[in-house]
Amino acid sequence: MKILSGTSNLKLSKDISKNLKLKLINTNIRRFADGEIYIEINENIRGNSVFVIQSTSNPANDNIMELLLVIDALKRSSAKTITAVIPYFGYARQDRKVAPRTSISAKVVANLISNAGATRVVTVDLHAGQIQGFFDMPVDNLYTAPLFAKYIKKLNSKKLICVSPDVGGVARTRALATRIKADLAIIDKRRPAPGKSEVMNIIGDVKNKTCIIVDDIIDSGGTIVNAADALKRNGANEVYVFITHAVLSGDAVKKIKNSKIKKLIITDTIDNSQKTKNNNKIEVLSIASLMSEAIKRIANSNSVSDLFN
Ligand code: R5P
Repeated sequence: MKILSGTSNLKLSKDISKNLKLKLINTNIRRFADGEIYIEINENIRGNSVFVIQSTSNPANDNIMELLLVIDALKRSSAKTITAVIPYFGYARQDRKVAPRTSISAKVVANLISNAGATRVVTVDLHAGQIQGFFDMPVDNLYTAPLFAKYIKKLNSKKLICVSPDVGGVARTRALATRIKADLAIIDKRRPAPGKSEVMNIIGDVKNKTCIIVDDIIDSGGTIVNAADALKRNGANEVYVFITHAVLSGDAVKKIKNSKIKKLIITDTIDNSQKTKNNNKIEVLSIASLMSEAIKRIANSNSVSDLFN
């Protein structure tokens, strides 16, 4: 078993390699003058089970292309199996036709990864579980719920309520609410235009409660900031936000800073070390040990789901 890192989140790859006590495969990943990517693997990997770690975060197109070329290089170097470990699977939000004549980007990316030669995919909190079916190979979708539940327990609040910021996130939020034995509320969110969100209603009683908003992605921050405002208007005591993939585009960090959110807790599926430096409103929980354990179990053909029981 060997692990190889792309360039999108080297910090996470190094943490995983430390946990697994395995050196990262020696590679040469460079750009030509015109931006094209060049990949060279500097050690023998013939017959090895190789895990490639690469988040397809911003710049998504470059990071996807880099992942594809690494997989291709591994295939041509006779790796026995190639597992694409994609902590943040970008392009997942377009997982169905939302209007006539639109594309389904999650399926296109799944096809690219399959055709490049991956034999398995490992990812974290997929935007929609059904995306697993876009691949004709095993997909292990890891959950951050146990990590978040541990943090929430430390808040020591008796009046917790988990809040889904939109209807699409209900299953994820309910799973966390069940785990921490809390109530559930749902926000009726509408998108009047792409990138804009509005809270229409709150389903559930949030008065005098500590609200735990859970979502897979924070991008512009609009969804979460509006949700926190609405919860406060409806009498919530405090609003904590737990997000797996902190895309944090544009002025999202500033929006969070000026918002009614008490704390935003994110993970390191995307490397945000620069954006979150010296920011006491944002806390980063590492998923390195969860990912390392999952990789170990896959390599040893042990159960991955047992990790979440
Ligand atoms: C949408 O379905 C996702 O789960 C997130 O709620 C969304 O991507 C957040 O976007 P933004 O932060 O730009 O409102």
